[in-house]
Amino acid sequence: TVAFLNDQWMALEEAKISPLDRGFLYGDGVYEVIPVHKGQPVALNAHVSRLTRGLSDIKLHVNKTSEEWRSLIIDVVTHNQRGDEPADYTAIYLHVSRGADTKRHHAFPQGITPTVFAFSFDIPPPPPKQRENVNCLQVGLSEDKRWKRCHIKSTSLLGNVLHYQAAAEQGLAETILYNEHRQVTEASSCNVFAVIAGIVVTPPLDLQLLPGITRLCVIQALKSAHIPVEERVLTVEELLRSDEVWLTSSTKEIAPVSQVDGHLIGDGRAGEYWERAINALDNVKFT
Ligand code: PDD
Repeated sequence: TVAFLNDQWMALEEAKISPLDRGFLYGDGVYEVIPVHKGQPVALNAHVSRLTRGLSDIKLHVNKTSEEWRSLIIDVVTHNQRGDEPADYTAIYLHVSRGADTKRHHAFPQGITPTVFAFSFDIPPPPPKQRENVNCLQVGLSEDKRWKRCHIKSTSLLGNVLHYQAAAEQGLAETILYNEHRQVTEASSCNVFAVIAGIVVTPPLDLQLLPGITRLCVIQALKSAHIPVEERVLTVEELLRSDEVWLTSSTKEIAPVSQVDGHLIGDGRAGEYWERAINALDNVKFT
């Protein structure tokens, strides 16, 4: 794997940063995961806009235009191409931290250079498009114990990691999270959709969840396919009684869920709306 670190290309194993880097000491940074299908980044513009919004939210100035971020991501793809044919399914991890100071001090240091790091990794191919052939996820359910700025794709992921690990320790694939009003926010590394009486529902964007790029693409694809979709508050009770539940992310695409916290969803298999959604997503090209 070829990595990009501070304007240099190197083998991933050779990439080194200072232990005084604020990404290491404070989780002071933002990141992106961009899926790449057959050499083409998916929804590249949307990923770059979320990155630049995140950088501005954390007041981290990097001397790069959106065009330069896009070409950096494409360069990471190119540097990691093995042979003539592009790999089928990979993703780019792109990380920007505030950089290394000479001492540990909470306030932003002046005049330090941000650390920009990127590499490519393989992701699983998307699931088969027929609902009979797809494996469903079993997931847990827990009150969201993270912070109140979940719209920022922050590298401070301890809250997410602890929720994810709690699921892993029970042999589950994810944890769906809800707030103090028992309203679903998202999952520890995915967004959440439910199908209720023929309408696809997903929680509205606010500070409680990440504006997922896959979420955005799925909403657009559903609209293009004339499948009803609503961004609205979704309670835990509605979720548990819904006909279908899906998780979406750049690495999972749309993953159907068969059980939430031991409750069977629908008939425990991928549903009709899931199959329509995954095909609708395939028919729209996101640049
Ligand atoms: N996770 N919510 C959270 C908390 C996430 O970390 C992610 C993505 C999503 C889905 O966003 P998108 O569709 O843009 O991937 C929602 C990435 C893949 C990760 O951390 O590896």
